[in-house]
Formats: sequence, C-alpha cells, structure tokens
Amino acid sequence: MQRFSVAEHAPAKINLALHVVGRRDDGYHLLESLVVFTAFGDRIVVSPAEEDSFVVRGHFAAHVPLDDGNLVLRARDALRAAFPEQSAGPVAIELEKHLPAASGIGGGSSDAAATLRALDRFWNLGAGEARLQALGLPLGADLPMCVAARPLIAAGIGEHTQMLDAFPPLHIVLVNPGVAVGTPDVFRALTQRDNPPLPPFDTADALQDWLHRTRNDLEQPARSVAAEIGETLDALKDHGAGFARMSGSGATCFGLFTDAAAAEAAAAGIAEAWPYWFVAATQTLHKDRD
Ligand code: C5P
Repeated sequence: MQRFSVAEHAPAKINLALHVVGRRDDGYHLLESLVVFTAFGDRIVVSPAEEDSFVVRGHFAAHVPLDDGNLVLRARDALRAAFPEQSAGPVAIELEKHLPAASGIGGGSSDAAATLRALDRFWNLGAGEARLQALGLPLGADLPMCVAARPLIAAGIGEHTQMLDAFPPLHIVLVNPGVAVGTPDVFRALTQRDNPPLPPFDTADALQDWLHRTRNDLEQPARSVAAEIGETLDALKDHGAGFARMSGSGATCFGLFTDAAAAEAAAAGIAEAWPYWFVAATQTLHKDRD
C-alpha cells in the first residue's frame, strides 16, 4: 500500500477572453478561450486509508455535495476504471474548498483535475497529461484545461488545449458578488452563437491591447441572469483595475493590476465596501504549479 499522502493545488481557472464561435449538434457550444490559472485555489490531498473516504473542509465546504455525483469522486472512479489493477487500493480524499461554487472560475472542474493528477502520482500510474485530459473530458468540458493548469488557448468545447509558454505573469483580483450562476442557464440565455474567432495571440504581444480586441461572449447572457455582475466590474475598475472582465459563465469577475501591492490594496478596498462578496488577490501560475 502507498504510504505517503500526495497533495495537488486546484487553481482558479480564469478565461481572460472567451469567444463562442459555434454550436455542436449535441447542443454543446464551440469556444475559443485564452485561459490562465492562479495561485489562489482549492487543495486536494490523497492519503492511504483502510477504506475509501471523502471529506471537505474550508470556507466554502458547505456548498460541496458529498454524494457520488461529486466531480472529485467521479474523477477517482474514472481513473480506477481506466487502471483497474494499479489503482485497486482504498484512498482517503480531502478537499480544502476556497473557491466559490458555480462561479465561472472552474471550482469543481479544477478539483476533479487535481484529483486526477494527485491519484496518478499516488498510485504511480504514469498516465501522462494527455491521458488524464481525455479521462477528464466526460466529467466536464473544462476538465482538460484544468488538468494542464497553465496558460493555454482552449478550443472545441474545451478538449483542444494549446499551451502558451513564456506567458507574462499577471496580478489579479477575483471578485464574486455572492450569486451562484448555473452554466446551463447562461448558455440558454445566449442568443449570438457564431461570433468572430479569437484574434491570433503570441506571448510577445502586448496582452492588454490584445484583450481589448477580445470579449467574453457569455457576459451579456450572464448579466441577464445575475445583474450584480455589472456592479462587480464597476467595483474592480473603480479600485484601479487596468482591465476587468467576467470569467467563464460568471458571476466571478477578474481585474488585472500592475503589481501585487496594487492588487492587494484593491482587494482590501472592495472587501471593505462589500463585506459579503468573495474577494481574493492572487497571481497567475506558470509551468511549476505550486
Ligand atoms: O461540461 P459541463 O458540465 O461543464 O457543462 C455544463 C453545461 O454547460 C452543459 O450541459 C451545456 O449545457 C453547457 N455547455 C455548453 N458548451 C460548452 C460547455 C458547457 O453548452 N462548451
């Protein structure tokens, strides 16, 4: 039996830009998105045990379902089904939940992806990133990008990922106005499904100029579901964000700041003005995840 615990960071996923460029016959939308991941996030720890278990701690623990539908347990089961001999032993899984649920920054998908990475190491499967991404996809369209957890361009429904090396480090403030937004509700409210593609991106490009030429096509439909998103974006801009946009299907918005001190100051100001909002100052993760 494996004797050691393995921990994996489950970062927040931020869609810096998200274009909806079409729709598949099965109703899933075709996207093009520039995605980064942050030092702020959840944490998965897998440990040897006499029998399988799953516990959740942390600020948002109460929002996490503990039944078999939980993406963490579905990720564990998918890996077991793919590697029945090597992964036979029981495992205790602990999730430290710091990311708000249903908020456009990947929470459940990132937890499931971190579970795949952690169990791959725990059971010595040597599955490799591409295999873990393929195993994750049936659990959710964001799983492949969350398995990679570094700057990338995602396409298709999320199954195509192209890594971006040498991406500039970013100082970010995440703000969620305390409303859970269901991804299917936002896609249902979307009327324009064949928008122009992402402009080509090169890591040498001036990121802010490029961002101003892009969109999050889910922002308008999300605002029709959660009007607080407008107030959230205004709060980020009023507190000095050089750029602010909603991530994913919302309602979490991100602001970009020149340095860590500016991000910390803005986060403190927003948290003081809106004490019931979720606010976190953080920075992007690059090749080394932790
Ligand atoms: O894949 P995931 O479970 O995250 O998707 C939740 C729902 O969001 C899907 O059932 C679908 O209605 C919608 N969706 C979509 N196009 C995508 C991703 C999600 O229409 N690319």
